[in-house]
Amino acid sequence: MSMLDVDHINIAYKNKPTVTDFSMHIEKGQIYSIVGESGSGKTTVIRAIFGMLPGGGKVTGGSIVFEGESLLTFSRERWRLFRGKDISMIFQDSGAMMNPTKRVGSAFIEYIRTHEAVSKEEAFRKGVMMLERMRLPSGENIMRSYPFQLSGGMRQRVGIAMGMTYEPKLLLADEPTSALDVTTQAQIVRQMMELRENYGTSLIVVTHNLGVAAYMSDHIIVMKDGKIEDEGDRDYILYHSGNAYTHKLLEAVPSIGGRRFV
Ligand SMILES: Nc1ncnc2c1ncn2[C@@H]1O[C@H](COP(=O)(O)OP(=O)(O)O)[C@@H](O)[C@H]1O
Ligand SMILES: [Mg+2]
Repeated sequence: MSMLDVDHINIAYKNKPTVTDFSMHIEKGQIYSIVGESGSGKTTVIRAIFGMLPGGGKVTGGSIVFEGESLLTFSRERWRLFRGKDISMIFQDSGAMMNPTKRVGSAFIEYIRTHEAVSKEEAFRKGVMMLERMRLPSGENIMRSYPFQLSGGMRQRVGIAMGMTYEPKLLLADEPTSALDVTTQAQIVRQMMELRENYGTSLIVVTHNLGVAAYMSDHIIVMKDGKIEDEGDRDYILYHSGNAYTHKLLEAVPSIGGRRFV
């Protein structure tokens, strides 16, 4: 049994099969990537793990077990306590997820107060501490800013800070660097890798960029048309796979910061 065991899941939207026979097993401190072109089912898989499939989406077969507990049987209340604490998720543009008319601080305070009964002042202080831990200087100023006043990279650091508030064992990231320029992308990639060093966090990173996946992960799953097309450790995917689709993705890897990631 691993920390997270996803076994042979099928996922459908309104009874239309979308993901077929997907399995993955991740241990504490491992970094996994799921890569594949747009529409291959990457987001669907991690939303299923996070119990947050959009309306009409349903896991129709298989099992998802985290530390021995079946996530597929969780009640709404159990999810509320679990999400953010044991597993967190960050998105492509964390800033876009925030209400543009609300300051970062009020979103952060609200997030903390859905997880623990603390005063607004205490939640504010905790938010500032998390921002500074994620190397955002002057956390208080950031708490008082509106999302549009921050750069994309800063907004993504805010997203990571929120996601890490309770030091989850597993962080899910859906295209966390895709909205960023290449320099900022490299900084966020490194910051996510440091989460494992500093907190022992496991990561599942969804990306259409095999270069990012190859740079940061131990294990890579290549998806195509809702199925696993290829998978293996980083070295296998980069240098030993004979899969034609994997080769096609490797050829499409852009260079980052003047040098190729792989
Ligand atoms: N809410 C939804 N309702 C119906 N179909 C969806 C929904 N979300 C995604 N899909 C379909 O599921 C497939 C996989 O989508 P997605 O998981 O978003 O792929 P990826 O993240 O790899 O781009 C696509 O064909 C997409 O159109
Ligand atoms: Mg997606």
